[in-house]
Amino acid sequence: MANVRHIQYEELQSEEDWQYFVGDVFESADLQYEAFSMVENEPLYDPQIHLKFTEPDFVVLLNNNFQQVKYISTDRNDKYPLAYTAPFRILSDEGYSVLKAIIKREFVNCQGDLRQPNYIQSIGYRSQWIKDFNRCPVVRDYLSKLCGEPLMVTTLKSTYSHTNIGLVDPDKGVDQWHTDSVPFVIIILTCDMTNTVGGELQLIEREKQEASKLISQYNGNVPDEYVKNIEFDGPGSVIFMQGCAVQHRVKPVMAGTEPRITVVNSYMSRNPFAIEKTRYDTFRMEPTTNYEFTLHKSWRAREQLKALLMYNKKWPTKDELIKRLNLVIKELVDCRDLLDGTATDALGYYSTDSKQMRMYDGDYRVEKKVLNLNET
Ligand SMILES: [Fe+2]
Repeated sequence: MANVRHIQYEELQSEEDWQYFVGDVFESADLQYEAFSMVENEPLYDPQIHLKFTEPDFVVLLNNNFQQVKYISTDRNDKYPLAYTAPFRILSDEGYSVLKAIIKREFVNCQGDLRQPNYIQSIGYRSQWIKDFNRCPVVRDYLSKLCGEPLMVTTLKSTYSHTNIGLVDPDKGVDQWHTDSVPFVIIILTCDMTNTVGGELQLIEREKQEASKLISQYNGNVPDEYVKNIEFDGPGSVIFMQGCAVQHRVKPVMAGTEPRITVVNSYMSRNPFAIEKTRYDTFRMEPTTNYEFTLHKSWRAREQLKALLMYNKKWPTKDELIKRLNLVIKELVDCRDLLDGTATDALGYYSTDSKQMRMYDGDYRVEKKVLNLNET
């Protein structure tokens, strides 16, 4: 469609003082989508029982040389954002075993597409434990401290604990080169990779546009000198990363005695003026996305208006007021246009099969499939 407007959020960045505002944590009417139902008889999520934090040995900053430091500065005028962390832990042994049991139960809901051959979506609509874990304020506050930015759970409930399953298949990457369509993620290794060959999480320590050029230039086979292998630290260990800003992939699993399973919880800034990193296009084929994304944009618009209502630093000029109103209006116009297809925020990903960037469209989505993983 020639007339589709391509939304470029990065151009909106600016540094005015009113654009730093910590909004209220997103909450919604929390309707249950009719096709899903909560599974009964799960343990009740309890942070006292299910969480046990350790600290990562280092964090890596999103600057030119991906500098490794112990902590991120808390001074927002003097800091680089998070690229990724060393592995650490969030779940207790008990928490990990509950998570693993729920994911195993969810195998029947596995689906696939050309980027990720096997994954499970929408678990937050079927599991109260998963929903509570994703929304847990203790986890949220811990991660906020690690990255130096107030975070909250993603507004897109269908992505709660998105689970990626890597089966032994030397020809298929578990996930292709991409940047995420949500801002921050924790990736929880939910299997034992002791006997696994391959399945490495890799990222390119370069600014993401530069990384994209390298991926195209080398047809996806980016030389080792640019690629960093990210090591987990055993079952239950966690990597925290700003996946929207760093190109990454998961290599094929060449051999192993159990599938490679990662559970991905997504977070976003509580600042409603933060550059938009949540993408409609990537998720638009999920049945709940239209409503979830509308809630997402409504939250941003509401919190931006709240920032205006509560602003008491200096008398705003007419131009400033117009600028602020335009930002709120843009949130809602973008949302409407994305829903009705007159605008797109498509990011796409690099397809190793076709050796080019691909969008999430056409024959991208593979039919829903039921994996028989009972042997695991
Ligand atoms: Fe990712």
